[in-house]
Amino acid sequence: MNTKSILRMNQGHGENSYANNSSLQMKVMSKALPIVKDIINDMFVNNLSLEMSESFNIADLGCASGPNTLLLVTEVIDTIYNLSNKNLQILVVLNDLYKNDFNSIFTTLPSFNEKLKEKYGFEFSQNCFITGVPSSFYERLFPCKSLHFVHSSNSLHWLSQVPKNLDNKGHICIDKACAPNVFDAYKDQFYNDFYTFLNHRSCEIVPNGRMILTFMGRSFPDLLNDDSCYLYELLAQSLNDMASQGLVKQDDVDSFNIPLYAPYKDEVEAIIVDEKSFHLEKIEISQFNWDPLDDDDNNNKFDQIRSGINVANCIRSVTEPMLVTHFGELISLKDVFKIYANRVANHLKTKRTKVVNLTICLRKI
Ligand SMILES: C[S@@+](CC[C@H](N)C(=O)[O-])C[C@H]1O[C@@H](n2cnc3c(N)ncnc32)[C@H](O)[C@@H]1O
Repeated sequence: MNTKSILRMNQGHGENSYANNSSLQMKVMSKALPIVKDIINDMFVNNLSLEMSESFNIADLGCASGPNTLLLVTEVIDTIYNLSNKNLQILVVLNDLYKNDFNSIFTTLPSFNEKLKEKYGFEFSQNCFITGVPSSFYERLFPCKSLHFVHSSNSLHWLSQVPKNLDNKGHICIDKACAPNVFDAYKDQFYNDFYTFLNHRSCEIVPNGRMILTFMGRSFPDLLNDDSCYLYELLAQSLNDMASQGLVKQDDVDSFNIPLYAPYKDEVEAIIVDEKSFHLEKIEISQFNWDPLDDDDNNNKFDQIRSGINVANCIRSVTEPMLVTHFGELISLKDVFKIYANRVANHLKTKRTKVVNLTICLRKI
């Protein structure tokens, strides 16, 4: 099933006022979906223990509640239907944090089920079960050996917390201008979080079960280049501009940091090796323009102003709750993201920088 038909099937699934952000996430996820299909095919063809199971149990971690939430479910159901294993029951568990709007997902399920019935017939559709588990994926979520396949997209670069005792004045996460100890603190937090994540999943996934994870990464081991993290450095600079105009307090800017870390692929590989529960089958790196609506690198009429606004909309949708919690309701997000859009446009004049994503495929040993 291609991305367009998945989108058609999900039509009517929730409103998302931040279309730019979901289209970037959609691009990232759609890179991983063919891999999901291949891996599931491979699991059914080669894995005898699965043939013995009455149900195929899947979890999507960090599912959110927007137009992309049911993409994975749709793809997995379609893949299994085409494997002509019509009697198998499919359980899909959607996970996100407690504050996620699970109700809006559940509200769309009756129409989603109707579409399954139309497309695959009554009997097959009655064997598909969708449920939700609200909690952090840095905790245990499922019983031992209860899952065959785990997926997570656009989520694991979010840490469980900002590293403790951080002195990162003028910045809001890692960047080439940060002090080395700030870089180390973020790197250590990612190590601990990702190790914990793997360790919990290793209890929950059956032997030979698979996991496909896509998250933001860096293209270089050091911080001397401008890919994923620089998006947030420009936000730090915009908040500093706001402080110098007296629109927010400098102390508030200095104490604001976000729990985000984009690892280099070797760091991820090292944690997988240290944790010892998974075999790394594949690691792929993909890159997308910062502006999710800019697909044409050869476009001579590239409009940096438009792209600056698109990127600002995207980053606003991700950071707005954190900004409001830290700075209070009175912060003018319109001003912050106007300054930010200009800064992004100025940067894009000189360089069409990309966001880097890592997709990793793991097999439970
Ligand atoms: C950018 S959205 C990705 C949504 C969807 N997977 C996609 O690719 O379009 C990131 C999601 O990860 C969730 N998330 C972040 N940290 C999490 C955690 N520790 N446990 C569970 N979900 C988490 C957020 O609440 C958010 O809904």
